[in-house]
Amino acid sequence: MTLADLNTLLTARHSCRAFRPDPVPRGDIEQILTSAARVPSWCNAQPWQVVVTSGAETDAFRSALRAEAETGQAQPDLPFPTGYSGIYQDRRRACGWALYEAVGVEKGDRAGSARQMMENFNLFGAPHCAILSSPAELGPYGAMDCGGFVTAFTLAAQALGIATIPQAAVAAYGPFLHRYFNIPDDRLILCAISFGYPDTDHPANRFRTERATLDEFVSWRGASAE
Ligand SMILES: Cc1cc2nc3c(=O)[nH]c(=O)nc-3n(C[C@H](O)[C@H](O)[C@H](O)COP(=O)(O)O)c2cc1C
Repeated sequence: MTLADLNTLLTARHSCRAFRPDPVPRGDIEQILTSAARVPSWCNAQPWQVVVTSGAETDAFRSALRAEAETGQAQPDLPFPTGYSGIYQDRRRACGWALYEAVGVEKGDRAGSARQMMENFNLFGAPHCAILSSPAELGPYGAMDCGGFVTAFTLAAQALGIATIPQAAVAAYGPFLHRYFNIPDDRLILCAISFGYPDTDHPANRFRTERATLDEFVSWRGASAE
């Protein structure tokens, strides 16, 4: 295994926003979860718990979630960001516009952007959804450990040709999710990961996001070996 192999995987992965309905074999889902659980966690607590939906369960969840999003109040367990300013706002806008441009939503088309946003609650048509939670008592570090789990999940899936999208939008409906999946209140629901085989022809999957260069996020102190 070389860094080039890893980079191939890292650059091939992207957030998928249109899936084919075909189910993923249970064995592949188990492999993805087993690989994801190899990530480090503070004290090796492995704080993640995952509910995985398939088949009719995904469709029932999708319908209930859509209804909740249309009528319910957003109330995430983990506070959403209070703002995106400066470069973070720029990057947020850039990825939003790239998506809207890909799907043909023009600037100012509020109905169009709302329709695309609602696709979150359709799980982008994915046949499976994983709901991730962490013990509340582990606080932000539990969530941090679970962030590693999310990344490894997406990469392991990519290695099997399975597309993913982490979704904070789903976690917005915390009380509903606790009730629906019987997740105890001493756990924080962090995000969902919808997954399945990608609809590669769909316009929503035709754009890719960019990354900052090292000079934008690294501050070197001292000399390293040449
Ligand atoms: C924790 C987390 C939550 C996210 N929530 C959403 C979401 O609710 N809806 C969505 O369309 N994308 C969501 N994304 C996907 C990001 O927008 C995406 O990762 C980012 O734009 C970079 O693009 P890429 O994943 O294609 O490389 C989320 C990603 C992460 C890591």
